[in-house]
Amino acid sequence: MCSYCMNLEAVLGTHFGIAHTRWATHGEPNAINSHPHRSDKNNEFVVIHNGIITNYKELKKYLNSKGYEFESETDTEVIPKLIKYVYDNRERDDLSFSTLVERVIQQLEGAFALVFKSRYFPGEAVATRRGSPLLIGVRSQHELSAEHIPIQYNSGEGEKNSHNRPEDSSTAVSVTGDGKGMEYYFASDASAIIEHTNKVIYLEDDDIAAVVSGKLSIHRLNRQAGEDPVRAIQTLQMELQEIMKGNFEAFMQKEIFEQPESVFNTMRGRICFETNKVVLGGLKDHLKEIKRCRRLIVIGCGTSFHAAVATRQILEELTELPVMVELASDFLDRNTPVFRDDVCFYISQSGETADTLMALRYCKERGALTVGVTNTVGSSICRETDCGVHINAGPEIGVASTKAYTSQFVSLIMFGLMMSEDRISLQGRRLEIINGLRTLPDMIKKVLALDKNIKSIADELYEQKSLLVMGRGFNYATCLEGALKIKEITYMHSEGILAGELKHGPLALIDKDMPVIMIIMRDACYTKCQNALQQVTARSGRPIILCCQDDPEVSKNAYKTIGLPQTVDCLQGILSVIPLQLMSFHLAVLRGFDVDCPRNLAKSVTVE
Ligand code: F6R
Repeated sequence: MCSYCMNLEAVLGTHFGIAHTRWATHGEPNAINSHPHRSDKNNEFVVIHNGIITNYKELKKYLNSKGYEFESETDTEVIPKLIKYVYDNRERDDLSFSTLVERVIQQLEGAFALVFKSRYFPGEAVATRRGSPLLIGVRSQHELSAEHIPIQYNSGEGEKNSHNRPEDSSTAVSVTGDGKGMEYYFASDASAIIEHTNKVIYLEDDDIAAVVSGKLSIHRLNRQAGEDPVRAIQTLQMELQEIMKGNFEAFMQKEIFEQPESVFNTMRGRICFETNKVVLGGLKDHLKEIKRCRRLIVIGCGTSFHAAVATRQILEELTELPVMVELASDFLDRNTPVFRDDVCFYISQSGETADTLMALRYCKERGALTVGVTNTVGSSICRETDCGVHINAGPEIGVASTKAYTSQFVSLIMFGLMMSEDRISLQGRRLEIINGLRTLPDMIKKVLALDKNIKSIADELYEQKSLLVMGRGFNYATCLEGALKIKEITYMHSEGILAGELKHGPLALIDKDMPVIMIIMRDACYTKCQNALQQVTARSGRPIILCCQDDPEVSKNAYKTIGLPQTVDCLQGILSVIPLQLMSFHLAVLRGFDVDCPRNLAKSVTVE
């Protein structure tokens, strides 16, 4: 389950509860900082919040001056205090709960998904979002009588029993006629609710959703030009068993072993192996425009950024365009110049990463064409980009991303193949890659069969403090990604090192005690990687080498080898990352850590 999800249940009549698994932005993770936060000791208003309130200090100061005392160190606590302040100072008695919420969010800056509950409005729930994801799962004992919820617009001054009050059936809208037998689930992520329902409504920024007497209504302050006046009830394709652990010890392990299928699903229906044609449906109408662009900018965070690094070289080769790869946060920090004739890709498993989303909005404002590459249909990045590719890897639950990486990798390669279809000089290369993709799922199975060997190496390494991962060329990204997996779930220090940089500093780390994993595949960097190997062994280093099966030349200098099947150079990184995923998994288990929920990390990072 996503570590930050909030879950609101409306079962049996009008009962409901709110809960939040907190990823701390302000204040350490402890009982007092946990959600829900409350307005006062009588719990007049309680709130759960995913996101960050950037003007909380000003609000806190103001509320302090009005006599409100704070219990926690969180930014969130200003929200229940503020709604109580608005309630206590209301000019009329008949203001509805959602109107109070509307007034509160007008004072908030930052990003939030919020769910409110109050003793003054028993059985009612109000939820809203801005910049953080929020969806509503809808479950009914009857056939749903609506396919969408019309938005109600108002001046923000709704009264009890007016259009803000769903119990007034003349103006409120419900998913079934009478609202009976309805259950609603508010969550940040669909995987949190899929066991209850596959019918969902994705809320937009500043939507205010209220559930009263089993009826759901959504309203907004004012209608903007071009705004969609309804919210569709969508049916998720995700199956419950897809997010169950099965016989595996952890979701991460299951997801590593799913890669033959997830990679196949990424390609399914998109590559025709008879005609060597690649069609990404979400991009085909924009292909002409993309071909005319000045450059491609590929933006992401963490693992998704590594997928961009991994495919940069082949994208440059197949598209014959300059390709910039950018960490979203750094891209924004630099106020990077972006032009109308740039095409910007946003790589994101969740489709909700705040930094990536901000970078998307930044590029949109500057007129660039925006392309999403996500694993989550209906996510913010999906909705806000001009076009995109769904990577179809299936739900990824483990916080450490594994199968999403290999599917992002394959998606970007397919994009390169689509762009190069009419380049006669590139046909040989295209064919080689397409053949490589065809055999990829079987090759992944062969790599997964090395699990026991990898576990035995992990048995030797798990008490170490540090682990270096070194390589270059097509496998530099593998080093970055392998090191990220190791640090995030084993809490060991790990660094991905470009072998070409070895003599510019990292060589100083090498001695007989420093564990080093080296990736040396038979590609254009083979000789250079062997030189790096010599430099490591000359300093008594004892490298564990990921290399092609049957490579006696490399093996003779290795402390241990992990022999991999060989594929096309630009696809090799898909195979070579898997032993590192497995290694990090075994190391974390041996060190006694929770593989799926590493400390301090969240599955979707919806705060900047
Ligand atoms: C690492 C990991 C993170 C994410 C990053 C971006 O295993 O999961 O580094 O890759 O937070 O997340 P998405 O891809 O959802 O944008």
